[in-house]
Amino acid sequence: MLELHGLSKHFGGVKALDGLDLTVEEGEICGLIGPNGSGKSTTINVICGVYGQTAGTVRFRGELMDGKPPHQRLRAGIARTFQNIRLFPNLTVWQNLWVAQNSHQDIARQGFLPRWLGATRQTRKEIVELLELADLGHKGDDLAANLAFGEQRRLEFARAAAARPKLLLLDEPAAGMSQREIDDLGQRIRRVRESGVTVLLVEHVMELVMGVTERIAVLNFGHRIALGTPGEVQRNPAVQEAYLGSSAPESGPEGGRA
Ligand SMILES: Nc1ncnc2c1ncn2[C@@H]1O[C@H](COP(=O)(O)OP(=O)(O)O)[C@@H](O)[C@H]1O
Ligand SMILES: [Mg+2]
Repeated sequence: MLELHGLSKHFGGVKALDGLDLTVEEGEICGLIGPNGSGKSTTINVICGVYGQTAGTVRFRGELMDGKPPHQRLRAGIARTFQNIRLFPNLTVWQNLWVAQNSHQDIARQGFLPRWLGATRQTRKEIVELLELADLGHKGDDLAANLAFGEQRRLEFARAAAARPKLLLLDEPAAGMSQREIDDLGQRIRRVRESGVTVLLVEHVMELVMGVTERIAVLNFGHRIALGTPGEVQRNPAVQEAYLGSSAPESGPEGGRA
């Protein structure tokens, strides 16, 4: 589904990514963890085309993505959530999902309102399903800005799923969530995978990553220091050292929540 080969991204002297190799298989939930600043968000940004890489290649379903802008990658099937939630605050929950669902098309050219009024029965049905997935069925007409934090996170997740991606990149979707919300998120990620979506999960909340992924890659200083099952990664001395050497030992591979 996804092949990163020798991927580097430098910001001036900062080597945010430094020769990363990673393959994500179709249908899996793959974790990507590492201490703060190890290059996780940069990886997602390079896969999506927000940043061009300094060196290396991104292949998606066998096709080189180099030089393709984000909207073309979205069209090809790569969707993502943001570490800092990004919604349209002055649109309703329903409208946020509708825009995301139609992100393959050039809404601006076709005119927002007429197409909105013309939403087909099929698109409406899909939005109802997304609202249910996000447990927001009762909030469809609320402005996104008026949602509670946990609800905004759920809408962010549903917004990414609305684009009908083949690959979903999640950047710390559990940040700031309660235990109950984290459990629900785990279920939601599994449901999306069951619908045929491959998932790359960047996350600090270890119980979620360890519980929901089949394989985990560990980054430190922009390269991969480990790759394996959750159990293998937890026992890996290099991983333990990377976390203990960081400023946030409580977010370590055995340390529960960040
Ligand atoms: N746009 C940017 N400009 C300059 N430096 C950046 C930028 N984005 C990320 N970095 C740097 O790259 C490194 C990796 O950042 P990031 O990928 O956000 O880490 P993570 O998501 O693992 O916490 C950090 O040192 C960060 O400061
Ligand atoms: Mg990050």
